[in-house]
Amino acid sequence: MAVRSQTSDSNPSSGARLLLAGGIGAAVALSLGIYGHEHAPATDLSITLGFTDTITMKVWLATIALLFALVQLGSALWMFGRLPLRAAPAWLGSLHRISGRLAFLASLPVAYHCLYQLAFQDSDTRVLVHSLLGCAFYGAFASKVVIVRSHSLPGAALPIAGGLVFTVLVGVWLTSGLWFISENGFPAP
Ligand code: HEM
Repeated sequence: MAVRSQTSDSNPSSGARLLLAGGIGAAVALSLGIYGHEHAPATDLSITLGFTDTITMKVWLATIALLFALVQLGSALWMFGRLPLRAAPAWLGSLHRISGRLAFLASLPVAYHCLYQLAFQDSDTRVLVHSLLGCAFYGAFASKVVIVRSHSLPGAALPIAGGLVFTVLVGVWLTSGLWFISENGFPAP
């Protein structure tokens, strides 16, 4: 299957579009960080979406987001010919797009609770890193969406942006979901 071409020639307007993508991502991440910093943690407006409690919902949805992100990584590597497999099938692009949307959707209730109920915290290094990466995730995601929708960007732009979104999400999960599971075990739904 052909990967949608982002031509390899870079020109002034492609540089401007890359700057725009980076600027939008930075603005999103900063806005979330400033909101989380200024907002006092609140316990109203809590949701569990059918899970036993909020923390259980967060651990499950964060882990589900991570699993969809792994599907994204695998399908992207296959589409870019980086796996020792036959040519990527036509449906792989759809799988890639759908798994990306599902990873993003699964992350939203979790981040909502993190930002609204816990806010930006720096009580120890792990919590600080988690708060920073949580904000960076949505910034990196916004940049990637702009890059996906742009044409005539350097060919490396999309894999770099996608790799960044994936890496940040893994970092978010390691500093929250994995930490919780290693302390308490995987919670029953
Ligand atoms: C949007 C910015 C985010 C901020 C400011 C933030 C902040 C926090 C904070 C302060 C904690 C408590 C850490 C502790 O005391 O152990 C936490 C926990 C957690 N976060 Fe985030 N987070 C954000 C985004 C995310 C995202 C995107 C995910 C996953 C998709 C996530 C998943 C979790 C999980 C699973 C926990 C552990 C359960 C809990 O303690 O409530 N967070 N977050």
